[in-house]
Amino acid sequence: MTDGSMRIAVNEHVLEVHDGGNGTAMLLLHGFPLSSEIFDPVRPVVESAGRLITVDLRGFGGSDAPRGGYGMDELADDVIRVADELELDRFVLGGHSMGGYVAFRLAAHHRDRLTGLILIDTRAAADAPAAVQKRREAIATIEAGDQDRYLEDMLPTLVGASTKARASEAQGRLRAIAAAVPDHVLTGCLRGMIDRPDSRGLLADLDLPVLVMVGAEDELIPVREAHELTDALPNARLKMVPEAGHTPTVERPVAAGDALAVFLRELS
Ligand code: MLT
Repeated sequence: MTDGSMRIAVNEHVLEVHDGGNGTAMLLLHGFPLSSEIFDPVRPVVESAGRLITVDLRGFGGSDAPRGGYGMDELADDVIRVADELELDRFVLGGHSMGGYVAFRLAAHHRDRLTGLILIDTRAAADAPAAVQKRREAIATIEAGDQDRYLEDMLPTLVGASTKARASEAQGRLRAIAAAVPDHVLTGCLRGMIDRPDSRGLLADLDLPVLVMVGAEDELIPVREAHELTDALPNARLKMVPEAGHTPTVERPVAAGDALAVFLRELS
């Protein structure tokens, strides 16, 4: 039985890791610019099905924020070292949005360590030119000292219309997490996402069980892309979360948590 937070040193910095429950291990990676706090609402139900490990990626949440090293491969290397430290031989890996980009890099280098994959509101394709342009503008805004304006623009895209209409706690919670991220981490990850390779070439060989989850109202990754991702994988199924946008574990924790727990039980 494992239960609790710990700090694990990897690649000359220290990461905040939460490890709870027991049984088959699922390791979940948060998106940008967030932290593993987005998985807090689903922890109890997932831990009733197995072991849940969440990692604050370098620069986020309670982890150290070194000046550099925010490429997706570098973030993935941190994660596999956490798995080594925890003596996780094989595990189910999940990634939300940017965490999914990291999960694809980990799958590219360490496919043999994975028994299942969860892809939450993410995509395998690299950035389209318009997305690169938008990220470059965001980097310029942040480097000009206007992190607030950047967050004002991007935070509404993290939740769907139903969450906005409900004026739920979710938006305030996401804002607080994002506002704590240092500027150099924001710009480092934006550059890391611009530079990430296209992972679509990996999909046909990823024959392990995959759960693709998407909020039905996601404004950042359209539902159509989640269908395409599911179709391109040999052994994937799609879970659409109604009345959720880009962050279903916070917006609709019951539906999202149940889907994760069912998948983990199936792989146990
Ligand atoms: C995320 O939620 O991780 C990011 O919005 C992903 C992205 O910007 O591509």
